[in-house]
Amino acid sequence: MATTGDEIFCDYSRGMSVGRLGLGDSVLYPYQSFWIFAEALENVKDFQKNFEALDTDLILASVPKSGTVWLKALVFTIVNRTRYPIFSSSHHHPLLTISPHDLVPFVDFKHVYPDCSLLDFTKKSSHIDHYDSPCRLIATHVPYPSLPESIMDDATNCKTVYICRNPPDTFISLWHFINKIRTMPESNDNSGIPPLSSKKESTLLSIEDAFEFFCDGVSEFGPYWDHVLGYWKASLEKPHKLLFLKYEDLKKDPEPHLKKLAEFLGYGFSIEEERQGVINGILNLCSFQHLKNLDVNKNGILWCNFVANKDIFRKGEVGDWKNYLTPAMVERLDHLTEEKLHGSGLAF
Ligand code: A3P
Repeated sequence: MATTGDEIFCDYSRGMSVGRLGLGDSVLYPYQSFWIFAEALENVKDFQKNFEALDTDLILASVPKSGTVWLKALVFTIVNRTRYPIFSSSHHHPLLTISPHDLVPFVDFKHVYPDCSLLDFTKKSSHIDHYDSPCRLIATHVPYPSLPESIMDDATNCKTVYICRNPPDTFISLWHFINKIRTMPESNDNSGIPPLSSKKESTLLSIEDAFEFFCDGVSEFGPYWDHVLGYWKASLEKPHKLLFLKYEDLKKDPEPHLKKLAEFLGYGFSIEEERQGVINGILNLCSFQHLKNLDVNKNGILWCNFVANKDIFRKGEVGDWKNYLTPAMVERLDHLTEEKLHGSGLAF
């Protein structure tokens, strides 16, 4: 870390640059209590200043690489199942041809969703033209203390779902993702966003360097532990406003968790739907294998040519960290997690 004038920044140039992440500068800045890229910062400030929650709003929050895309697919499908039925031969489900990241956009990366009126918070009725969703569905990685106040305010019925994932799997997923982005070929799109070709020659990020940064709390929207704890505590204080989900629970026992999620969102399943197998239909539609093998997710390019859709669907497993972390790394991460989460009631 280094200091320039008033600003402290984390210089990734010694190999930590995330290259083609699409956030322009390769420097993470501290903002409020977290780390953020310069371009995303303007979006977050806009969100904080201009977003006013509506009763019907649903916010999907997460720390990066914890299963956000899965949550987006599930929530979009639950909420829109009248408009886009699961078992219909006449209706073409949007998930079959559109990435979940486009169906439920990130406020933090507004600059890579050109013309997305859903993210124009000066227009109150903007939600109606985004894939005809009955409500505004938006995603964010912003830590809990930095959310716009109206989101958790009891004056509205706006609800938030948070998904988190165990620290070692989150870290391994992040490390792979950064390196995928760093090696993505240069784009020739006309989006006006610089292709970051200057980063092409940069070397891959070693797991050791990435691990040091992660453990030091330096990761996008991190520190990881603060992020998870912030939402965890809020979910205990306001369970009617915030549902806290764990990736591992969803993987292990998907049916009851999907039911719980749908009920929390206000879109619970009827007995008739349960009888028809709608819950399993949604789980299958949004399953890792199904989404990963769709043409849009195999060949598509997301976010103005910054991310290949296929890089969003890697392994989708619990425990992949065992293939990468040394015993010393595991011990350090376990120790850190125990120390940070001690007394919170949250465990992985
Ligand atoms: P891995 O890299 O471990 O495979 P995010 O969406 O927050 O970026 O999280 C990405 C992680 O979620 C990746 O983990 C990805 O493979 C996994 N993932 C994506 N879609 C999934 C799905 N439908 N079910 C389970 N995991 C999924």
